[in-house]
Amino acid sequence: MGVTVQTSEINHSEVSSNNSAPENRKNGIGESIADAVINLDHGDPTMFEAYWEKMRERSAVTLLGSQSLSYFSDPKNLCWFLEPKLEQEIKRLHTIVGNVAIEEGQYYIVVGTGSSQLIQAALYALSPPDAAATVVCAAPYYSAYPEVTDLVRSRRFEWGGDARSFERDDEPFIELVTTPNNPDGVIREAVVNRPHGSVVYDLAYYWPHFTPITAPANHHLMLFTFSKCTGHAGSRIGWALVKDKEVAKKMIKFMEVSTIGVSKDSQLRAAKILGTVSDSCSTGADIENFFVFSRNILKERWNRLREVVKAADLFTLLKYPTQYCRFAKDMTDTVPAFAWIATKGEEDCAEVLKKHKILGRGGTKFGVGKQFARISLVSKDEEFNLLLQRLSIIQGTDDLNYE
Ligand SMILES: Cc1ncc(COP(=O)(O)O)c(C=O)c1O
Repeated sequence: MGVTVQTSEINHSEVSSNNSAPENRKNGIGESIADAVINLDHGDPTMFEAYWEKMRERSAVTLLGSQSLSYFSDPKNLCWFLEPKLEQEIKRLHTIVGNVAIEEGQYYIVVGTGSSQLIQAALYALSPPDAAATVVCAAPYYSAYPEVTDLVRSRRFEWGGDARSFERDDEPFIELVTTPNNPDGVIREAVVNRPHGSVVYDLAYYWPHFTPITAPANHHLMLFTFSKCTGHAGSRIGWALVKDKEVAKKMIKFMEVSTIGVSKDSQLRAAKILGTVSDSCSTGADIENFFVFSRNILKERWNRLREVVKAADLFTLLKYPTQYCRFAKDMTDTVPAFAWIATKGEEDCAEVLKKHKILGRGGTKFGVGKQFARISLVSKDEEFNLLLQRLSIIQGTDDLNYE
């Protein structure tokens, strides 16, 4: 049973201090599972391990000692550190899934060390040279945005909080739109809609295992992450699709100065994994469709979670609409990577959970009240099963059998 025992306090970055150093971690072996703290504070996508275990050989990458010596991947490409194979597989997967209008060839691809680095690059590229841009996002917003924006106290941009409160017509702004949204899974659009601004679409979760693909996205600047698409958060790969060449150039400059490009080893691995996902989606594929496999797990988890929450009267969960998915060619519903739960009264939701040894992330980190909390649903089965058991105990419904 790989349940992580945690003792440290909740922090607000995606990989928080709850993700303590390995020497401080215990895995529950030799101690009562009843005592283990389950850490669902960050969205560590270990759920996907079950699929990749099955694809062990098929997705393996061999890197020779003679590879990756040069800083350069493709000097002819605007993004000179982007591996051609990764570019090819990114385009192939978007075309198969239909989540981006990429076939029109209107985007520059900029690769980053996770989309976290690309968020910083986008803020740098979009902020005006002579005035600080206010960075906003409608609450509840991804808890890392304020931290990423204000970490180095740049003179080019600063965090301004909830986008719905931004009302200054004459001031430059950058709106971050996460759709489906982290933490609550809701489909979103820009809310500011004023002059002097730019919008960055963070589409980390716009993949068919999480949500129906209703139309190909074609925004000016879109961010994707390998972490949530396939579950390989540890490879640290993300990509931006950018329409404006000057913006792309500035983002590339940011990457050049901060890390002189992006690990070629990780890019080659990402290319192999994305290629395996595309292969799995092809008609007549001899391997299980990655998105169908992952969606089925999430769907089942959501059904079970809803059953537990419904059985008592303490928490609420959001409901999501069913829509036609172009990829599934069927009606599907959103099954987010996180559960955004709320206490029915005014209690501090994260504290209620913590008393029962469940670490979630409290609503204040997302710019809303403490009656909300986010819990990851993309952990391993053992942790998810324990979560249901704990929730049942809180709600007094532990006669249900969740094994
Ligand atoms: C909405 C959103 N954007 C960006 C990221 C960062 O992803 P990466 O692992 O690529 O840095 C996350 C991670 O949880 C996320 O939820």
